[in-house]
Amino acid sequence: ARALRVALAGCGVVGGGVLPRLLADARFEVVGVLVRDPTRARDTPIPAGLAVSDPAALLAREPDILIEAISDASTGLALIRAALTRGVDVVSANKQAVGADLPALIELAAAGEARLLYSASVGGGAALIETVRRARAYGTVVRIEAVLNGTCNFILNRLAEGRPFGEALIAARDAGFAEADPSADLTGLDAAAKLAILGHEALRGRLAADGVTRQTLASDSVLPAGRVRQLARLDVRTGEVSVALRAVDGDPLFVDLADEWNALRVTTGDGRVFTARGRGAGRAPTAESVWADLTDLAELRANAKENAAGSREPAALESP
Ligand code: HSE
Repeated sequence: ARALRVALAGCGVVGGGVLPRLLADARFEVVGVLVRDPTRARDTPIPAGLAVSDPAALLAREPDILIEAISDASTGLALIRAALTRGVDVVSANKQAVGADLPALIELAAAGEARLLYSASVGGGAALIETVRRARAYGTVVRIEAVLNGTCNFILNRLAEGRPFGEALIAARDAGFAEADPSADLTGLDAAAKLAILGHEALRGRLAADGVTRQTLASDSVLPAGRVRQLARLDVRTGEVSVALRAVDGDPLFVDLADEWNALRVTTGDGRVFTARGRGAGRAPTAESVWADLTDLAELRANAKENAAGSREPAALESP
């Protein structure tokens, strides 16, 4: 089989974690890497001739698959749309782009006969989307509660140890957990986009990220007493869709949550409870999750080809 042509958009925390694996795997041929500044020195060097700074130039290299791992929402969204419209399969780690209007992207993918996978957009290495899908297969989802932002979790853990806010934020940036603009983490925008994606998985309805009420974590935040988490909540019965700083004492799923971890609880109408926990931010777990989507895509494409080949020769399957 020929190598799949892969275009990588973004070479930061996530893209920079995926690139070395792509270059080392004969199943894939990297045809271009989109970066804002091709001349900048990086911890993952981009091979000569691959760096481009214009999204149109990236798609002009005719990839089979686009990996979209840029931090900017509107550039990411435009690129995903352009790729799906051309029939290019997309793996996205960009929660702001995917969370903005997931149903519209799914429609676009169907129209372009392309696939859109986005498990890295929520939960990093923790299987949060998969857990919501499983719950939904068993019953009607009535409630989602989750810690979806590793940066806030990390900072809240440090604050609980009596460490200063500023020092904790710098450490979260240095560890590669925080966004390029950490206000997305602190204001709950990041968690709101992720909750919108999970909400869509749960309800299959339109749930806009900008409809989520949010509370900001700041150096002067007055926190509730006890163990505090930035908790995202969607409650179908009360209509609440929020990201807020809440005390979680007595709830072991959320109390002892290490650094960049995420955690999720999904409840169905008949009282079933599904949970998941894992490393939700950072290069390794997120790149791992992109890689899992990419591998799934490669297999889906190979199977689709086999089926197409099979359908041309039905007689071979019909011998008694
Ligand atoms: N900034 C995000 C977080 C990265 O802290 O959770 C993972 O999406």
